[in-house]
Order: sequence, then C-alpha cells, then structure tokens
Amino acid sequence: MELYLDTANEEEIAYASQYGFLDGITTNPSIISKEKDSFESIIRRIDSQINGKVWMQVTKKEAGEMVKQGVEINKWVKHAVIKLPMNEDGLQAAYRLTQDNIQVNMTLIYTLPQVLLAAKANVDYISPYISRMDDRALDGKAFIIRAKEIIQALGAKTKVIGASIRSPQVIVDLSTQQFDAVTMPFTIYKKMFQSELTTHGLAQFDENWQKYLVKNEGK
Ligand code: E4P
Repeated sequence: MELYLDTANEEEIAYASQYGFLDGITTNPSIISKEKDSFESIIRRIDSQINGKVWMQVTKKEAGEMVKQGVEINKWVKHAVIKLPMNEDGLQAAYRLTQDNIQVNMTLIYTLPQVLLAAKANVDYISPYISRMDDRALDGKAFIIRAKEIIQALGAKTKVIGASIRSPQVIVDLSTQQFDAVTMPFTIYKKMFQSELTTHGLAQFDENWQKYLVKNEGK
C-alpha cells in the first residue's frame, strides 16, 4: 500500500521524510493556500525534500486550460501526479494528459458511476474522500470496496487512494482490504506511532534499568 502525507508544510515534510518509507506528498489548493510562497516554489521545494511522487491539483476549470496547466506543473517535479476534478472537463483533460504519459488522479470522487467512468478512462488513481462520506453517512470504507470491484471488473489499472482520513484506524482497515494507497494529514501520521502502553512500558523499562545500574555500580 502506498502511503502519502497530505501537506505542503516544510517542517512536517522534513520530519516525516526521515523515515524514508513514504511514497510521496499529496497537495490540493487548500493545502497550498496555507503556504506563503508561489505555487511553483512550494512544489519545487517539496520535490527537493522527498524522494517520491508529488501530487499537484490543477486550478483551471476548462479542459484545454487544465491540460496546459497540467503539462506545465508536471515539469516542476521528478515524479508528478496531476490531480484533476472528477467532472467532464477533468475527465477530458485526463484523457489528453495520459496520452503524454503524465500520471493523473481524479479527485473528489463520491459516487460509483464516477468510479466507473474514471476506470473506463483508465486513469492512474482516483481519490474517494472517505471521512467526508462518513460525515454524510455514506460509508466510505464500503464505497471503496465497491469501487475496487468496479475497477477489477473493467480490467483497469486505476489505483484507489483513500483521501480525507481522520483516524489511524481507517488506514488500518484499508490496509487489510488490499488497498492501493492512502494519504493522511500529519496529525494522523503522528498518531499512528502513538500508544500510551508503549510510552508507559518504555518508562518502566527505563526506571528498572536505572535501578540495575545503581545496584551494580562499580561491578
Ligand atoms: C485529498 O486530496 C484531500 O487533500 C484530503 O484528503 C481532504 O481531507 P479533509 O476531508 O480532511 O479535508
């Protein structure tokens, strides 16, 4: 399962990249809007921080414009994934960008017919927004299982990346369903390491180790 961090924050990326197992960084216009530099500088900085894919979303609305922007931003990084909105213009742009061997992702996927069309177009990735679905009682995890079935039935190469993740448990659940990829915010990434029992157990080991050292001083 590919794991991505959903952020453009320099410190967060620097911290997380130390582990080396992340497959890249995903961004969107809201994430970019939290930063201070130009879009291009932010993306180039991210690319210099990590070895992996950098996902960037087009902001243009018309298919031809999306293609132009997609071709341009694809040049900013070594391994780009161009995020396109799941609408008619986005799907037209996807078709044209994939002709140029540019990897594409259809974002903001909420329905199974959208999945079917994206799979039929054989795009590289689709991102269903799991927690936003759950917020509306749409059962994000069940949706993804159905989405995988559709993709398999159509024989498409399309991978499903779980987006809008608000708890580590969702990631665990997705991993056992042979999930392709997940992107998570930094807060969730940090939470995945944490357990009070681990912290407590470590403190206990340390305490006993110090006692042992005192007892055996000079031996
Ligand atoms: C994916 O591209 C989005 O950046 C993200 O996962 C959205 O998450 P949210 O629903 O927590 O805003």
